[in-house]
Amino acid sequence: MVSKKTADSKEVDVFDLQAVEGVGKATEEKLNAAGITSVLDLAAATPRELVEIGLSAEKAEELCLKARLLLIESGFLDKEFVPATEVLERRKSMQRVTTGSSALDSMLGGGVETQAITELIGEYGCGKTQICHTLCVTTQLPRQQGGLEGTAIYIDTEATFRPERISQIAEGRGLDPQKVLENVIFASVYNSSHLQLTVKELGRYIEKYKARLVVVDSIISHFRAEYVGRGTLAERQQRLNDLLHRLLRTAQMHNVAVVVTNQVQANPDQFFGDPNKPSGGHVLAHSSTYRIFIRRAANNTRLARIIDSPYHPPTAEAYFKITEKGVEDLQEGKQ
Ligand SMILES: Nc1ncnc2c1ncn2[C@@H]1O[C@H](COP(=O)(O)OP(=O)(O)OP(=O)(O)O)[C@@H](O)[C@H]1O
Ligand SMILES: [Mg+2]
Repeated sequence: MVSKKTADSKEVDVFDLQAVEGVGKATEEKLNAAGITSVLDLAAATPRELVEIGLSAEKAEELCLKARLLLIESGFLDKEFVPATEVLERRKSMQRVTTGSSALDSMLGGGVETQAITELIGEYGCGKTQICHTLCVTTQLPRQQGGLEGTAIYIDTEATFRPERISQIAEGRGLDPQKVLENVIFASVYNSSHLQLTVKELGRYIEKYKARLVVVDSIISHFRAEYVGRGTLAERQQRLNDLLHRLLRTAQMHNVAVVVTNQVQANPDQFFGDPNKPSGGHVLAHSSTYRIFIRRAANNTRLARIIDSPYHPPTAEAYFKITEKGVEDLQEGKQ
């Protein structure tokens, strides 16, 4: 968790909802029933959610705000308005995890960042799930080997998670497969509401399992399957937006790396260049901190390109390959 505790920080039990002024026994029970069990959960909730469980709009606004203020006072959250020097300081607690390929890591400025959402986009078979599996292993490595010394949470929507593959990657990297598997916490989600609920409760699991990586493979598939036709687009985008914002807040609050995968869809209007574009429209484009486009290249290699990032050049690209060790450098040829 990103903790900014100072000498004058207020001592607060962030797992005790009643520490928030205005939360009594009855309100706590209502919140618990909605999966909000800590001050952290309440601070990450939206007032709209609290209205849905029967709180008045004023009370909902007030509680979310008070929870946030309490976290700021106790040093768990940063102040809302801060000088840029402090933002820089905050980013110093950001860490990076290796993808397994040094070429891909350098394209990313040193690996996949915590406190951010990294979106892997590409056609079937391009290697998105393979990167996610590899990251579950590398996250567990010591810091000096490019890891985050933590566990990984894997949220699977496509039934493509393979513990055998995690084992193989771990073994290929000289690690104890059994230990590595124990540190990958898996959840399968069956529809978009289930995904929303799981993401809502994520903070609690991140703390419980000391996770440093959260994978959502894929972020879009349930939404695409459930919302068919133009008339449903607005609602779909609204829900996707909520989900991504919550994921980003979770990434920032708990200093974890969030990696989501996304499919591409054919764009028949495109006459030049790649006729495929990422699914999810503007919502995903605006919520992901980093968007990485992956495609198959010659000789069974893969080419990754950053298509959206606050500070990486848009032309940054890297070649890598997928082997029994997971993601690896090409060894020879272009990097
Ligand atoms: N053990 C392995 N050794 C080498 N390559 C492998 C291994 N396992 C998988 N691959 C490669 O990874 C590819 C599958 O990639 P992956 O499942 O990550 O695709 P994806 O981008 O997630 O696709 P989708 O959109 O269908 O989910 C296979 O086609 C194969 O080339
Ligand atoms: Mg996949």
